[in-house]
This record gives sequence, structure tokens and C-alpha cells, in this order.
Amino acid sequence: MEDKLAQLQLLVEKHFEHEGADHDFQHILRVLNTALYIQKLEGGNRDLVIAGALLHDISDHKLNGGKLNNNGVVAQEILAQLKFEDDFIQNVIELVDKVSFKGAAVEDEQGSLELAIVRDADRMDAIGAIGIARAFHFGGARNRALYDPLILPKQHETFEQYAKDKSHTINHFYEKLLLLKDRMQTKTGRELAAKRHRVMEDYLTHFLEEWNINELLN
Ligand code: ADP
Ligand code: NI
Repeated sequence: MEDKLAQLQLLVEKHFEHEGADHDFQHILRVLNTALYIQKLEGGNRDLVIAGALLHDISDHKLNGGKLNNNGVVAQEILAQLKFEDDFIQNVIELVDKVSFKGAAVEDEQGSLELAIVRDADRMDAIGAIGIARAFHFGGARNRALYDPLILPKQHETFEQYAKDKSHTINHFYEKLLLLKDRMQTKTGRELAAKRHRVMEDYLTHFLEEWNINELLN
């Protein structure tokens, strides 16, 4: 198993070679490390956590030409090629198909403990200091505005609406990042997220204060 997981890691590294900093192999490694930390404290199948973390973004809709829910298809091909056992492959597919955030008003799909661990770890990397950096990198790479007070955040009710929205980056905090703390499913995840959430709140307070300097003119 160790051997196959090492091979899987190399294959995933190659797959992410040309991705930007919001979604590169370093993101995958940070998610893997966070997931392993949560698993160490909370239990669950370590091999499944590793494979799930490595494959959780393997076919993201933002990078695959817009196909939603395609992770499982690609994960299946890769794991079969590396000759993982069928049961294990099924468990990974279920995990990577359910892992994504699909909108503020869309409930997370429930599943295994390993799903909860990988999902918490993935979300951990979207919040806090690194999360802020990734969000502005994402917006910058698409030439989006930092902020526009006239364009208000939305609570998306479907994955399709959420996926096609092209709002400014500050809205992303209200549409996703600030909601993640309360959607953590493991105790360790909740503890880690509390600190990162405060970093974002402080950041937004400063950002809006600087943005509204005109108020000092009155
Ligand atoms: P994850 O890897 O956590 O599943 P996503 O695939 O949704 O996250 O997005 C990758 C990164 O880009 C995350 O850090 C996320 O916050 C950021 N991102 C996604 N959509 C937007 C957006 N509309 N504006 C700014 N940042 C975004
Ligand atoms: Ni991810």
C-alpha cells in the first residue's frame, strides 16, 4: 500500500505541474498534511485519507473546462491503473465526489469519517492567512476587482449558480470563506478553523477601514 500511495503522489504531482497557486500541488500537500494531523487525533483509515487528499481536486470544474462532479471519474481511472483494490477505489470515489463546497445555501453531503477529515483539511487551506492569499491569487489570475461595495454577496442555492458567479474577491469571503468555520465536521477541524477565521475577520476589518478612508473627510 505504501508503495502504491507513493506512486499515486508522484502521479498527482505531475498532474498539477502547470496549475496556479490557488490550486497547485502545494495546496494538495497542505491538505494532505492537515488531513493526516486530523486523522492522527480522530482516527479513520489513514490510507483512504491519503488517497482522498491526493485526489480531492483531481478534476476541478474550474480547471477541466466546466465539468461539475468529475473527480470520481478521473480518480477511478488513476487508481485502477495503479491496481488499487476495488473496495478501496469505491471509497475514494465516494469521498472525492462529495468533498466540494457547492454554495452557501447548499448543504454538504454526508459520508465517511475520512470524507469529513479530508473536507475539513481542504477547507482549512481556504481560510486564514493562506486562504486570503489563495483567494486574491484566484481573483487576480482572472483579472477580477478586489472589491466593489455596490455588488453584494449572494447565498447561492445551486452548485451551477455558485460555479458560474464571477464576483469580486471580497464577496468570496461572504459567499464561502467565512461560512466554513461552522461547517467543519471534526473537533480538530473546528479548533483549527476558529483561529484562522479570526485572521480573516481582522483582515476584512482592516480592508474595509482602508477602503472607506473617505469617511474621514466628512
Ligand atoms: P478548494 O481547493 O478549497 O476546494 P476551490 O476549488 O473552491 O477550493 O478554490 C480554490 C481556491 O480559490 C480557494 O482558496 C478558494 O477560496 C479560491 N476561490 C474559489 N472561488 C473564488 C472566487 N470566486 N473568488 C476568490 N477566490 C476564489
Ligand atoms: Ni482543494
